[in-house]
Amino acid sequence: MRLVFVGPPGAGKGTQAKFICEKFGIPQISTGEMLRAAKTAGKLPTELVEKMGLGGLVPDEVVNGLIAERTTQDDAKNGFLLDGFPRTVPQGEALGGLLKDRGQSLNVVLALDVPGELLIERAVLRRTDKRTGQIYHLKYNPPPQGADLEHRADDQEDVVKKRVDVYEKMTAELLPYYDKLGLLRRVNGVGTVDEVKGRVFAAIGSK
Ligand code: AP5
Repeated sequence: MRLVFVGPPGAGKGTQAKFICEKFGIPQISTGEMLRAAKTAGKLPTELVEKMGLGGLVPDEVVNGLIAERTTQDDAKNGFLLDGFPRTVPQGEALGGLLKDRGQSLNVVLALDVPGELLIERAVLRRTDKRTGQIYHLKYNPPPQGADLEHRADDQEDVVKKRVDVYEKMTAELLPYYDKLGLLRRVNGVGTVDEVKGRVFAAIGSK
């Protein structure tokens, strides 16, 4: 199973990706998480740290390089879920090219649809446990006592709004690109985590 998961900031991609990856035994490959890990390790150039903090995209060649390398690792031999990549048509073309060179292809591109007003609330109240990576929400999925919580630098309301704008501009081209290739399936992301999970699995033809 090789799957791309597209959706606006705070839509619930990371939350749902965990269920899919568990079910199919594939790794979740998130360019956002890889970039944040590089930042924590002091390996992300300052201009990219600033760009991310302001809600902008990092250059295509940076994320294309991360994906080219990560998808050759052992745990990705039988497939992977790409969370937050590609985000632009050039990234989609780069991915298509590298899969073609390896004699591989994508099975499906899932797009999670959530309206703007819900995205702000989901992202701003998100907290992640630094130790386990588990995603919580202060209102909908409160963290247990003792969790070592982190509030992402780009989860401030004004930055989330900027990220939503960037997403809308980018998907104006990316979603039609995948639709033309016959890969796109849209999923309504409004509802409880379990309700959305049911729709996600139905969209990929699994229970
Ligand atoms: P990235 O880390 O990819 O962030 P994102 O796409 O903005 O997505 P999020 O992680 O914010 O949200 P999510 O959809 O995973 O939601 P989650 O499941 O956590 O990218 C960050 C930055 O890195 C970018 O802005 C860019 O700078 C850079 N970058 C990354 N990839 C790039 C690329 N390819 N090209 C260029 N730049 C790139 O859920 C959110 C919250 O909602 C949680 O609290 C959760 O508990 C809650 N929740 C989830 N589902 C529900 C539900 N059904 N009901 C109620 N609450 C829910």
